[in-house]
Amino acid sequence: MSVITTIDDLKKLHKRRTPKMFYDYCESGSWTEQTFRDNESDFDKIRLRQRIAVDMTNRTTASTLIGEDVAMPLALAPVGLTGMQRADGEIKAARAAEKFGVPFTLSTMSICSIEDVAEHTTKPFWFQLYVMRDEDYVDNIIERAKRAGCSALVLTLDLQILGQRHKDLKNGLTAPPKMTPPVIADLATKWRWGIEMLQTKRRTFRNIVGHAKGVENMNSLSSWTAEQFDPALDWDTVRKLKEKWGGKLILKGILDVEDAKMAAEIGADAIIVSNHGGRQLDGALSSIRMLPSIVEAVGDRVEVHLDSGIRSGQDMLKALAMGAKGVMIGRAYIHGLGAMGEAGVTKALEVIHKELDITMALCGRRDVNTLDRDVLLVPEDFEGRWV
Ligand SMILES: Cc1cc2nc3c(=O)[nH]c(=O)nc-3n(C[C@H](O)[C@H](O)[C@H](O)COP(=O)(O)O)c2cc1C
Repeated sequence: MSVITTIDDLKKLHKRRTPKMFYDYCESGSWTEQTFRDNESDFDKIRLRQRIAVDMTNRTTASTLIGEDVAMPLALAPVGLTGMQRADGEIKAARAAEKFGVPFTLSTMSICSIEDVAEHTTKPFWFQLYVMRDEDYVDNIIERAKRAGCSALVLTLDLQILGQRHKDLKNGLTAPPKMTPPVIADLATKWRWGIEMLQTKRRTFRNIVGHAKGVENMNSLSSWTAEQFDPALDWDTVRKLKEKWGGKLILKGILDVEDAKMAAEIGADAIIVSNHGGRQLDGALSSIRMLPSIVEAVGDRVEVHLDSGIRSGQDMLKALAMGAKGVMIGRAYIHGLGAMGEAGVTKALEVIHKELDITMALCGRRDVNTLDRDVLLVPEDFEGRWV
């Protein structure tokens, strides 16, 4: 592909260049994938208001997220196994984000460790925590994130139990992949991926192996993850973790007004309106539909960010205009990474930035911080009447 102009272009290259089990891991939702689909298609239902004869000079997309300066109000979402999409994937994505001037969030379930990413970047990144039953492990990883200078803890609250994605079971997803005949046949066509992978030492969950008790190899790790996500996690745990961390706290996976109110009451610095990219509760409403009621309920008390379904700068603009202070992207940058490594993540950010900037201008706006509902045409029944 000679000229890349959209996230979809990167997605096609991602599919071509990455082993099937990892591409499928990225490009799927739970069960029927209804929520996964709605996340994208609900953005399409919102239209834009064309304005003319407005001075378009001196436009800016610069903003802040939890007090940090950003080139545009967007952060890279935590994505597990990023280092399997491309060798050293988390380091590559973090470096691209740093150069672009947006935050990178490292997942607990990453391949590169907190220390790996800290060593290869110069600015603080955000760390995402999954709460595990093993309290020592949780305490220890919080300390590691502090030592690495992480500037925010992103606490994910919508994955106490894993939503089922059929493809992952059918593909026998592991990191690194087990060399079964179908995997070998697939890898034969993805040789560039394989060569890069052979050149790195980072091929397993390095935030976990060697840090959690009794986890020394992949076999025990898979059972460990299944057993270790803490199904008892509640608001009390959130309060305790806030104390332990002591820094900026972002609560991820809020999709309900009552939960948003609790998050604000607890004193979170930001919440992420999210359904985990349609990977957890299939049948939940899209994030963009839930956003207005959540902003109305808590928008003056806590920063409201949104993720799930953003594939363009126009989607981003719609989320900001509907009241989000910022957005996160997951698959959009993973497609870039799988397509072209660090340069692909940069490309994804450039594509989204350009779309955001031009759309802003054509809507008659020059400052991303002043976007509001006036730039949108939203169907009257967009949020729907759900009883
Ligand atoms: C492949 C994949 C892995 C993910 N892993 C994590 C994770 O480890 N931790 C987490 O909090 N969210 C994880 N998420 C959810 C993302 O952080 C984010 O909420 C989601 O990707 C947003 O939707 P989008 O992909 O449509 O942008 C993952 C998402 C994807 C696609």
